[in-house]
Amino acid sequence: MCGIVGFTGARETAPLLLEGLKRLEYRGYDSAGIAVMGDQVIQVEKVSGKVQKLSDKTDGGAAVPGCTGIGHTRWATHGAPTDLNAHPHLSNDGRFAVVHNGIIENFAELREELIAAGYTFQSETDTEVIVHLLESFDGGDLKTTVMRTVARLEGSYALGVLCSDKPDTLYAVKEASPLILGVGIGENYFASDVTALVSYTKNAIYLDDGDFAELTPAGITVFDSTGKKIEKPVSRITWTVEAAEKGGYDHFMLKEIMEQPAAVRAAIAPRVKDGEVHLDEFDLSPEELKQFNKIVITACGSAYYAGCAAKYALESLCRIPTEVVLASELRYGEPLIDSHTLLIVISQSGETADTIAAMKECRSRGAKALAIVNVVESTIAKLADWTLYTWAGPEIAVATTKGYTTQLAVLFLLAMSMGRKLGTLDDDRYPALLYDILRLPKLIQNAIDLNHGIPALAKKYHKSPSLFFIGRNTDWAVALEGALKMKEISYIHAESYAAGELKHGTIALIEEGTPVIAVCCNEHLVDKTISNIVEVKARGARVLAVALRGNHKIVSQANDVIFIPEINTLFSPILAVIPMQLLAYHVAKENGCDIDKPKNLAKSVTVE
Ligand code: F6R
Repeated sequence: MCGIVGFTGARETAPLLLEGLKRLEYRGYDSAGIAVMGDQVIQVEKVSGKVQKLSDKTDGGAAVPGCTGIGHTRWATHGAPTDLNAHPHLSNDGRFAVVHNGIIENFAELREELIAAGYTFQSETDTEVIVHLLESFDGGDLKTTVMRTVARLEGSYALGVLCSDKPDTLYAVKEASPLILGVGIGENYFASDVTALVSYTKNAIYLDDGDFAELTPAGITVFDSTGKKIEKPVSRITWTVEAAEKGGYDHFMLKEIMEQPAAVRAAIAPRVKDGEVHLDEFDLSPEELKQFNKIVITACGSAYYAGCAAKYALESLCRIPTEVVLASELRYGEPLIDSHTLLIVISQSGETADTIAAMKECRSRGAKALAIVNVVESTIAKLADWTLYTWAGPEIAVATTKGYTTQLAVLFLLAMSMGRKLGTLDDDRYPALLYDILRLPKLIQNAIDLNHGIPALAKKYHKSPSLFFIGRNTDWAVALEGALKMKEISYIHAESYAAGELKHGTIALIEEGTPVIAVCCNEHLVDKTISNIVEVKARGARVLAVALRGNHKIVSQANDVIFIPEINTLFSPILAVIPMQLLAYHVAKENGCDIDKPKNLAKSVTVE
């Protein structure tokens, strides 16, 4: 969702802001704008639509001269995506400009107050109250003005503030919304995430909630919420510019699908030493693990489906009852959670608002939280008692691929590690699992290579108005993710059903030519799913099966078959999902969809 950038230095800022905004496009947005400190006045340029439109309007930034500025991509919440509602917003006296991510929950009451005090509003946004508050509290000292303004705000906000009284100074404020400072030489920056910083610096300061910072070309000073100066470590950014670029692929999604062998290797290899799984970041003793009588996994979207797929491995290898609950449901439930519950929180971005809220709710009930997160120092990583990073590198396509498979890899390692310590994973089963987990990167590559026929299959299926994805147990978990991938990027209606449930209602929807994607990779249940294939075919369905290589029975039953390498059932979702990703990709490509930035979706869902 919304993206923020800020720059102060000796270079022209507008082209840098535009480049930073381009790198944040993947987060999802519908309008863009910049504010630059010009010759004594702040110049604001904004458009509804793409960053490219803003770039065209400003002649690549040349029409907005100046060396200090802020920029924004907006994903509309309060008010339509119009030019007026786009950020930055300017104060009535033109001296303050603000960009904002998040939601100001008390904006209505502040707006009334400010209107009564004579301020005029140009937009319908919640953000505009901030810029008028700044003007109303202006007493000459910018730091105090920012602090007094922030004290009136309720909700979540990452702010970038520019004031013409201090032409080379920016303020950055963080509360429950991501904001990272970039440390340069003779110039400094801020941005919503490191992808916008990597071209300029590898040195970052991660703010905590309540922190704010003053940036000038000469340096950065960080303060806590009371205004006390604090020292913050400068961290090294490990992501590279290349990783955040397409590198010759048509789409980030395809690049990220192809990166999965390497990404899964990075998640697994450092954690297996001398034939044992070592999770140094979650190194609990058997006694400590035995305190947990239940595991609750919470997440949203694909991360939730990763939890659904991993539940089987956790229950099988650790023998601890495991529940997977959508974060948006868990946060408002009355979960039966206490200090004996291990809460596993899964999130690629580490910033998903519902997931954070569910995590806070469970922790308030005594649960200990283990986060499985990709983005280093993200909110979820910071809130957790323990964090296992997935080390997938930047994921730019809105539809997650390597984010999901690296989550699965870490969850499988977790199940193995806990199972060993608890004594529930015995020596009979362990060597085969260890062998398989170490082979996963290679097997994922094989699964990609085995799928060269998918573009042709996409041509057969891309005109279907509706697709059904079926499977049982681990296969059902993959079917859920497959249907989500299909609908989010190709806009084709796709539903997933547990294969055994079909005859309890859904089979009524099957008619001549209805495509059914049947996941048949669970070696224990494949015959059962074949029976379901026979049932739907008898009603006219056209079946595309995903099966383990060597399963010849399936060839005579399905219309089309995609094979994946053989693997034990518990880990099979990580391979079975590969054809699902590729099928969705190629169907979306056939349909001419905007694959990396599907309509209405945002990469990081930082509002409820
Ligand atoms: C689907 C997708 C989303 C995310 C969900 C959670 O392809 O990417 O469903 O999985 O929004 O996001 P994170 O993992 O960042 O919490």
